[in-house]
Amino acid sequence: MPDHHRLAFLAEQGSDADFFSAEAIDRLHRCLEHTPLNPMAEFQVVCRTADIAVGDAKCFEISGKRIGVYRLTEGFYAIDDPCPHAGASLARGCIEGDVIHCRIHHWGFGIKDGLCREPHFPQHNVQTYEVRVQNDEVSIRTPPHERDYRLNERLM
Ligand code: FES
Repeated sequence: MPDHHRLAFLAEQGSDADFFSAEAIDRLHRCLEHTPLNPMAEFQVVCRTADIAVGDAKCFEISGKRIGVYRLTEGFYAIDDPCPHAGASLARGCIEGDVIHCRIHHWGFGIKDGLCREPHFPQHNVQTYEVRVQNDEVSIRTPPHERDYRLNERLM
């Protein structure tokens, strides 16, 4: 059984023991990496690479959505910008490693995976978007990954 099917099955069965293991968390992250993209999605250019310094972020409005684009040493990443807690702009928060901390109440979110790092509110994840860099242009693919974050709720 493929990993993502097994994880969905375990979620249905309520097998908490497996979900708390480091191996299960690692499997979930690998599944999220390989979640199929929406075939209708398209890349839209948002800025040039030089517009965002390493360790910085900027917010762009794309198709009526506010999306934050982050530049880490590993590359560019994009996540929904409104903080799921009270709507503050995450891109204006504080980047620590690959986590963005909201400037209002300091909740943390994974820049690469969109997962909420708050142990008491793990269901408040933010959507991630595929980013492409070509000819010094940064593009974001929308609509986003079609990820089932209910799996993450069971990890915490
Ligand atoms: S508004 Fe972001 S943590 Fe409260």
